[in-house]
Amino acid sequence: MLLMSTTLVQAQMKPADVTAAKSAFSDNGCANCHDASLRGVGPALKEIAARYKGKKVSAEVAKRIIEGCEGRWGQMAHPPYAGLDPTDAALLARWILAGAP
Ligand code: HEC
Repeated sequence: MLLMSTTLVQAQMKPADVTAAKSAFSDNGCANCHDASLRGVGPALKEIAARYKGKKVSAEVAKRIIEGCEGRWGQMAHPPYAGLDPTDAALLARWILAGAP
């Protein structure tokens, strides 16, 4: 039973998707401004997950990752990533909203 429930919790994202999201995150320099749990220039990934918990916002978050955003968290802007593949942006949004496992 314990094994089953552990599997259920982790079933939110496939291990391969988690690995791909982590490399997209480091390849695109996201870690320069975002930490998993500490606020840096940008909000911590866990803060982002907490704010949007239970809301179906992954498409709009992916859009903001590409187009950039400001004024939602503080004074600093998240820069636009015009060259980021929309598939990668969607994966990154899903991973961050899942609490960056
Ligand atoms: C130059 C610093 C910087 C870099 C690099 C950066 N971000 Fe951000 N990011 C920010 C800031 C600052 C905010 C808060 C913007 C605001 O207040 O609206 C933010 C906000 C966000 C949000 C929350 C958006 C929302 O809907 O509330 C997500 C998700 C995010 N960033 C993901 C990423 C990802 C993924 C990358 C890499 C592709 C990245 N960031 C690169 C600074 C950065």
